[in-house]
Amino acid sequence: MVAGALLWVAASAHAAQTLDVLHWWTSISERQAANSLATALAGEQITWRDAAIPGGAGVGAFKVLKSRVLSGHAPDVAQLIGPTIGDWAQLGLLLELDDVATDEDWQTAFFPTVWKLSRFQRHVVAVPVGIHRINNLYYRPEVFAEFGLLPPRNWAEFERVAAHLQRAGITPLAQSSEPWQVATLFETLLLAETGPAFYRQLLRQRDPNDWLDARVRRALERLRSLKRWMPQPLAQRSWDEMARGFARGDAAMWVMGDWARGELNSFGLEVDRHFGCAAVPGTAGMHLYSVDTFAMLSDDYGKQRQQEAFARLAASVPVQLTYNRIKGSVPVRRDIDPAQLDPCSRQSWQTFGQGEAVQAPSIVHRMATDEGMKDAIIAQVHRYFSEDQIPATEVQRRLAAISKALK
Ligand code: GAL
Repeated sequence: MVAGALLWVAASAHAAQTLDVLHWWTSISERQAANSLATALAGEQITWRDAAIPGGAGVGAFKVLKSRVLSGHAPDVAQLIGPTIGDWAQLGLLLELDDVATDEDWQTAFFPTVWKLSRFQRHVVAVPVGIHRINNLYYRPEVFAEFGLLPPRNWAEFERVAAHLQRAGITPLAQSSEPWQVATLFETLLLAETGPAFYRQLLRQRDPNDWLDARVRRALERLRSLKRWMPQPLAQRSWDEMARGFARGDAAMWVMGDWARGELNSFGLEVDRHFGCAAVPGTAGMHLYSVDTFAMLSDDYGKQRQQEAFARLAASVPVQLTYNRIKGSVPVRRDIDPAQLDPCSRQSWQTFGQGEAVQAPSIVHRMATDEGMKDAIIAQVHRYFSEDQIPATEVQRRLAAISKALK
């Protein structure tokens, strides 16, 4: 009996030191980045119990999270990102991290947009770990050098570069047909056409008529016209498979969020030496962002100490530098030394630091709308991209109608 009781005490003490973490980081660099957080936690005798759900952009992880919460098996920590964190907070599911935030002076340390994304109704409900930039054009410098080409700054230059490459038998632009990846390309084109102010208005003010704007039509038409520079037919490949293909030389350019840079680095490739990084044409000086945040799920405060330790550590300067270097994102803090970042990250961090005027929230990566609108945009854009007979104006009308219905 006594031995049994002791065992139970030991087991529960052990369990109390463990945090069950649900996230969607399964590529090589994502795994390494998660491991860097787990190592930091281990330093405080807290074990990261991994609950990774494959699927880029969290497509699967969000569904699993919902079903785990509904069945009473919520993880202790979950990768919950964007304004919908508020829905979870409103249900009383999230631990408030106000004490940690005050002790660590997060409000001063974080960029204002990041600070806003960590809060709901004046309470801190998530810890931010990194800022991703989506509007990146990766290119292969050796191919550009061979043909005397420069990374295109606008779409006219892009067309010239792409035509040149195609004539030389090189696929100009890599792309997967996975819906979220198509929509990720689209949101960069939307930003290029509209600029950050109209982009934000379209998604935030939700005036259905904005979807009928000529700039939206032009972004859709650009999306379709880019198909002629992509391999046909397009394969449905995960983004990390795409990164491997790009590293092998499948195409000369690729538009993807900078988690791709983390992945290319994990293959031993370095920015400026093995691959180049520029802004998507027409978006220099703009920052289409996705901020990764973790929220702490709590019903009985049984893991509060460990959850607070997680939050404190994840946002600390040393962990921010180590983690983000691997992940491809940049620190959420304003008080780091940018000399520590590679040129591409420095560009991202400094651009984001210019403030809201240059920032645009990613639709696909949950920064801009609720889940319903995000899913509708992805579905409509993907359908339009796959079926050439659908006119852009039909997609615009549908998105206006959906936006009205969901408002
Ligand atoms: C984003 C997320 C990144 C990265 C990417 C690919 O939504 O912010 O951290 O994981 O998806 O899955």
